[in-house]
Amino acid sequence: MNDVLKAIEERSSIRAYTAEKLTNEEITALVKAGLQAPTARNMREVHITVVDGENPILAEIDNEKNMLLAANADEETKAKILANPNNFYYSAPTVLILSVDKDFFWNKLDAGIAVENISLAAQSMGLGSLIIGIINGAMSGAKKEYFAKALKFPENYEFAIAIALGHRNTEKEPHEIDLDESVCYI
Ligand SMILES: Cc1cc2nc3c(=O)[nH]c(=O)nc-3n(C[C@H](O)[C@H](O)[C@H](O)COP(=O)(O)O)c2cc1C
Repeated sequence: MNDVLKAIEERSSIRAYTAEKLTNEEITALVKAGLQAPTARNMREVHITVVDGENPILAEIDNEKNMLLAANADEETKAKILANPNNFYYSAPTVLILSVDKDFFWNKLDAGIAVENISLAAQSMGLGSLIIGIINGAMSGAKKEYFAKALKFPENYEFAIAIALGHRNTEKEPHEIDLDESVCYI
């Protein structure tokens, strides 16, 4: 099997990381993989904020996410959220936050393609990754402008998707696929 197909087939979402930091070379390779993704009309509007896992902004986003989730949850779910020891990025040493031009029609699709490029690049480099959408509410709520500024989004940009990256501290099998259910030939 060629290397690309192997990375696609073996990738899975990783929710536990070691404390080992990524090197600058690894981070550069990952952001390049994101920016080398195709974009509609070759707009290249996807922007990446590289956040060190120890940056306190991540805890602020996590608190806001928990607060919003708890506010909209029943008592049982609320207790579960508050009892969950994990933050949204599972203490990965690096988190990339992708933002896009608010007014470009294909913005979120472009970010999705870019984030998958990053995820597959990580897989091919022996690293783990987790694509993160759960902070969308926190990133687009009352603190939207505050987070956009703290994360240095370009003017008129908004959150699209995030990805946690690091060395795996767990293994997870790739999900099952069902060719009969998901594909038809006409
Ligand atoms: C757009 C998107 C958003 C996601 N957001 C989260 C998230 O916030 N937290 C999380 O733990 N997993 C998140 N995931 C990971 C999915 O849960 C995961 O891809 C799915 O369960 C299949 O597992 P696999 O990636 O290991 O094949 C997200 C995946 C995608 C594509």
